[in-house]
Amino acid sequence: MPTVKPNPLFGPNRFKLGVFSANADGGIALTRVPERWRADWDDIAAVARMADRAGIEFILPLARWKGFGGETDARGTSFETLTHGAALAGLTERIAIFSTVHAPLVHPIFAAKAIATIDHASHGRAGLNIVCGWHQAEFDMFGVGQADDRYAQGYEWYQVFAGILAGEGPFDFEGTYFQGKDIVGAPVSLQRPRPVTMSAAFSSAGRDFAAKTSDFLFTTFAEIDSGARHIADIKARAAAVGRDLGVFTTCHVVCRDSQAEAEDYYDRYATREADAGAVDYHMAMKQAFAGSHDPHVFDQYRKRFAGGVGTYPLIGTPERIVEEMVKMAGIGFAGTTLSVVNFKDELPLIVDRVLPLMVEAGLRQA
Ligand SMILES: Cc1cc2nc3c(=O)[nH]c(=O)nc-3n(C[C@H](O)[C@H](O)[C@H](O)COP(=O)(O)O)c2cc1C
Repeated sequence: MPTVKPNPLFGPNRFKLGVFSANADGGIALTRVPERWRADWDDIAAVARMADRAGIEFILPLARWKGFGGETDARGTSFETLTHGAALAGLTERIAIFSTVHAPLVHPIFAAKAIATIDHASHGRAGLNIVCGWHQAEFDMFGVGQADDRYAQGYEWYQVFAGILAGEGPFDFEGTYFQGKDIVGAPVSLQRPRPVTMSAAFSSAGRDFAAKTSDFLFTTFAEIDSGARHIADIKARAAAVGRDLGVFTTCHVVCRDSQAEAEDYYDRYATREADAGAVDYHMAMKQAFAGSHDPHVFDQYRKRFAGGVGTYPLIGTPERIVEEMVKMAGIGFAGTTLSVVNFKDELPLIVDRVLPLMVEAGLRQA
C-alpha cells in the first residue's frame, strides 16, 4: 500500500488558507489592468510550488468552460481541473489539490477514476469540489439543459462517485439523472472512504446538499456579521443529518505596505480599470441562474464583482488583513481562499508578511 500523507484540510491550523482560481485567466477578478493574471502554465506551477512551500493548505481551481465576454473575455482561458490536479500532484509535496467538477457535465464514473488517480499520484492529497453550475452558455456548449432540481441531480452524481471510491462496487444505480449496471472502479482512493469533499453554494438547497455530501461548504458572505448567521444555519443543517461540516469562504485580496496604497490599487483594478462588459454579463447571469450571494450584494457591491466576482474584499496592510481574518475565525469560518490580481507577484508578500502575523494571532502554527 502506498504511503498516505496527512491531508492538510484536516491539519491543526485554526484558520486554513487556499489559493483559488489561479488556473483561470484573471483569477476571480474582472479587470483590464495589463498585469492581470494570464494563467500561463509555468506561472501556475510556480504559484503552486510557492503555496506548497509556505504551508498553505490547498489549491482550488475554478471550473470554467467559457469566458464572460467584455473587453478581456474574462475566464476565456482556463485549465481543466482534474488534469490540472494530476499535474500539480507531481510538482508539490504537502498541499491538498482540489479539482472542481461540474456534476451535470462530467460523468461520476469518470470523475471517480480521475480523482483516484490524483489521490494516488499525490499520496492522499486529492480533493473534490462539487459544483452544480449556473453559466447557461456552458450548458449550451455541452448541449444539455440545467436540471430542474440541480441538487437532486448532484446528489445522485455524488452517490455514484462516492460508492465507487468506497469500494462498494459492483452496484447498480437507478436514478432520475444517472443509471448504470455493475458499476465498479479500481483503484479506490487512498483517503478513506473517499477524498476530502467540498461543495460551493449559497442557497438553501445548496446548503442541504453540502450537509449530505461534503466535509466543507465553500460559500460567500457580504458582511462578517451576516456570515455568523449563515454559519449557524449551515451547521444546523449538517447536524440535522447527523454530520458536521466546516465552512470556508472566499476573498479577493490586495495586500500592500500601506492602507492607502492597497485601497488605491483596489480602486484602480476594480473601478477605474474594471472590465465593465464582463461585470455586466457576469452579474446578469449570476442573478438569473444562481442564488450564490445575498441579493443586496448585486446592488451595493459592483466593485466587489469586478474585484472578485462578489466575494469579500480583504484590502489593506498585512496587519489589517489579519485583523479581518481573526474576526472570520471568531464567527466560525474554518478558513478562506485568497485570490489576487497577479498570483506570482502578490503571493510572496502574503506569505512573508501575512502568514507570520497569523501565527502571532493564534490562527496558524509556525
Ligand atoms: C465560492 C463559490 C465558488 C464557486 N465556484 C464555481 C466554479 O468553479 N464553477 C462553477 O460553474 N460554479 C461555481 N460556483 C457556483 C456554484 O456551483 C453554484 O452553481 C452557484 O453557487 C449557485 O448555487 P446556489 O444558488 O444553489 O447556491 C461557485 C460558487 C461559490 C459560492
